[in-house]
Amino acid sequence: MEIKVSQNVQEQQTEVLVISQFEGEKTSQELANTYAVDKDGFDGKFGQTYLLHTYGKIPADKILIVGLGKKEELDGNKVCEAVAKAVKKLQQIKAKKACFDLDINSDYGKSAAIGALIADYAFDKYKSEKPHHLDEITFGALSQESVDEGIIFGEAMKFARDLANEPAQYATPSKLAEIARHLEDVTTEVYDKDAIERMGMGAYLAVAQGSIQPPKFIHMKYTGKNPKKKIAIIGKGICFDSGGLDIKPPASMLTMKDDMSGAACVLAVMHALNKLKPDMEVHGIIAACENMPSGSSYKPGDILTAKNGKTIEVDNTDAEGRLTLADALCFACELGVDEVIDIATLTGACMVALGTHAAGIMGNNEDMISRLIETAKSSGERFWELPMFKEYKDSLKSDIADMKNTGSRYGGASTAGIFLQEFVKDVKWAHIDIAGTAYLEKPQKELIAGATGAGVRTLLNYIKL
Ligand code: BES
Ligand code: MN
Ligand code: ZN
Repeated sequence: MEIKVSQNVQEQQTEVLVISQFEGEKTSQELANTYAVDKDGFDGKFGQTYLLHTYGKIPADKILIVGLGKKEELDGNKVCEAVAKAVKKLQQIKAKKACFDLDINSDYGKSAAIGALIADYAFDKYKSEKPHHLDEITFGALSQESVDEGIIFGEAMKFARDLANEPAQYATPSKLAEIARHLEDVTTEVYDKDAIERMGMGAYLAVAQGSIQPPKFIHMKYTGKNPKKKIAIIGKGICFDSGGLDIKPPASMLTMKDDMSGAACVLAVMHALNKLKPDMEVHGIIAACENMPSGSSYKPGDILTAKNGKTIEVDNTDAEGRLTLADALCFACELGVDEVIDIATLTGACMVALGTHAAGIMGNNEDMISRLIETAKSSGERFWELPMFKEYKDSLKSDIADMKNTGSRYGGASTAGIFLQEFVKDVKWAHIDIAGTAYLEKPQKELIAGATGAGVRTLLNYIKL
C-alpha cells in the first residue's frame, strides 16, 4: 500500500473519502451530517465507523466516517487506532483507493501513517490466495514530514513482524546474520562458532550445541553525526526454542519460532536508522542460535562459564534465553556505551503476570526505566515495571557453581531479571520481557494474530530522543 499526502482531498475523485467525527459534533461534509448524523444518529464514538454512498453528490463514490471520540481525549495512539479501524473497514468493502480528510492537527501524520500500515499488514507470502489489499491511500491536511516518519516506523514494524512470522526453517541464525550484513549505513561483524569460543561465551555456546544450525553472534553498529549518546540494544535470538532436553510440551512449543522476536526488533530498528538518522551511536547485538534436543545438547547439571568468568549450573535447558543474553550482556558492557537495553521473549511467567497487553521492564536505573515506560506509552505500547528485590537471588543459589539458571517457579520474570543482572557491569541497563506481547494467538485491537513487532516503535522513539 502506498501512502501519499495531498491538499484538498475533498475535491478529488476517489472510491472512498474518509472523514472524522468527534463525539457529539458534526463532520466536515454536509452529506454525512444530513444522513449519518442527523437522520441516523451516528455520534462519532471512538472507533465506530459509518459508510454511506454519495450518488454523485460529491467527487468520491462513498464516504466513510470514523469516530474519534471526545475531542479533548484525542492523542496520537487514538489517531493510530482510529485510522487502523478505518483501513480495516476499507479492506472489508474491498476498496482499492481512499482519501483521508481528518479534522486533526497536521502533526498527527506520523500516528495516522503508522495506524494505516499496521492495519494493512498481512503475512500472506505462503498463501496462494492473497487477502484484499488497498493500493493507495492519500492523507489530506497532514504534514508530509510527519507522515514520512510514520511510514519509516510502520515499515520497521512490518520488517520485524515478517521476520518473526517466518518459520524457523527459514529464519535461521545464518539468515539473521545475512540480513544484518546487508543493512545500509550499518557496519556488521558476525562471529562464527570458533570466534564465539575464543571470546569465552560458554553459556551461549552451550545452548547452541544441540542444533545442526551453527550459532551466529551478530554485532551491528550505526554511528550518527555528532553522537549525543552511545547505546546498545540486545535482542534475544533463539530461532527455535524446543526447550532442549527439558523439552516443551506440544502446545507450548507451537509458537516458538517467535523466540527471536527480540532479535527481529533489533534488526528492524537498525534497518530504520539510516532513514531516521539520529545523532546517536547505536549497537545492535544478537546471540543467535537454536535450542534443540540431540545427542550433542547441553544437559541439566552441566556447568557453564560465561564471558565474565561466572559459572552457571544448568537447572533447566529451557531457560536458555538468559544464557545467551548473559554473554551478549558481557559483550555489550565492554563496548563503553552509556546504556544497554535487552529485549527478549524471556519468560512464560511474564506472560502470566501481564498478559498480552504489556511487556515487563526491569533494570538498574530508575530514570532510564521511567523514560522507557513513558516512551512506550506515547508510542502505542505498554511497559510495566516488575520488581528486582534482592531476595529473588536466593532461589538461584547453586551448591557447586556461582548460580543456577532457574530459581523458583514463582516470580519467574523477576528471577530471570536478577539472573541477567549478574552479567551487567558499570552501565545503565534495562531489560524488557516481551514474552506476552511479541506474538498474538488471536487478533487484538489493530493487530492481527501472529508477530506484533513489539518494541520497535518504542525503541525507535527512545533512540530518536
Ligand atoms: N522462550 C521461552 C519463554 C516464552 C514462553 C516466550 C511463552 C513466549 C511465550 C523461554 O525460553 C522459556 O522457555 N522460559 C521458561 C523458563 C523456565 C524453564 C524457568 C518458562 O518461562 O517456562
Ligand atoms: Mn526456553
Ligand atoms: Zn526461549
